[in-house]
Amino acid sequence: MTVYLNGKFLPLEEAFVPVLDRGFIFGDGVYEVIPVYSRRAFRLHEHLQRLQASLDGIRLDNPHTMAEWEELIQTLIKNNSAEDQYLYLHLTRGVAKRDHAFPQPPVKPTVFMMSSPLSQPAAKLLASGVSATTATDNRWLRCDIKAISLLPNVLLRQLAVDAGCAETILIREGSGSGDSFMTEGAASNIFVVKNGTLLAPPKNNLMLPGITYDVVLEIAKANHIPYQVRKILKSEIFDADEILLTSSTKEVLPVTRVDGKAVGSGKPGAMFTRLHMLYQEFKREVMRKS
Ligand code: PDD
Repeated sequence: MTVYLNGKFLPLEEAFVPVLDRGFIFGDGVYEVIPVYSRRAFRLHEHLQRLQASLDGIRLDNPHTMAEWEELIQTLIKNNSAEDQYLYLHLTRGVAKRDHAFPQPPVKPTVFMMSSPLSQPAAKLLASGVSATTATDNRWLRCDIKAISLLPNVLLRQLAVDAGCAETILIREGSGSGDSFMTEGAASNIFVVKNGTLLAPPKNNLMLPGITYDVVLEIAKANHIPYQVRKILKSEIFDADEILLTSSTKEVLPVTRVDGKAVGSGKPGAMFTRLHMLYQEFKREVMRKS
């Protein structure tokens, strides 16, 4: 596997960063995950824009222009053999003596990129759906930054694995029991379907603005599928007809069980089937044009 580190393409086994890298010491950095279909990066511009927003969020200058990123990404894709890949981009505030405050003068950021083969979600998962568990969203108040410091997400996601589930749906607890609301998954965005309407939580500081989330809403709009972007109460998860999970690596997946209870009929529903088909069409169309 060929990776990129600080200006060089090299085998993964030869890529090392010093232990004083602020990514290692403080988790002081941001990342992106970009899907590649038939060797073309999907929604590249949007991913690079979100990367810029994450960098702005942690006050780290972008070391590359958009054109430079595009070129580096094309070379990374070329240097790896899979037709479908997912790219991982990782930037940290660089290597400096351990001190919480930013290094002065600033040091060079560390830039790392790798590619892994991307496989489509297994047909079995699409046919049966996946299970999810719920947990209190105990993360910080800047979940819109795609930060590499993912310890809360790691612990929350492990709750799902411990319960034999695919994902943990996160709940911000309100002051009263009736006003707790859903934010997203530990590593995905979550939609709820009720009476034929697709419900999406509003993008704000409490969730990652998913690129797949945007694509799904774009598809809903273009195909006159009723949708609403609004706060989704915890109670609505347990009263949902369908629940959908989205991410760049999983695309759109049906969640058919939550906390051991069936969602709606307990089977992937009509909204999932339609959106999944439209998503595949959308991908093909974008790839054909690019
Ligand atoms: N995660 N919310 C969180 C917390 C995520 O980590 C992700 C994706 C998403 C979905 O965003 P997008 O549609 O842009 O992939 C939402 C990636 C895949 C990861 O960390 O591996």
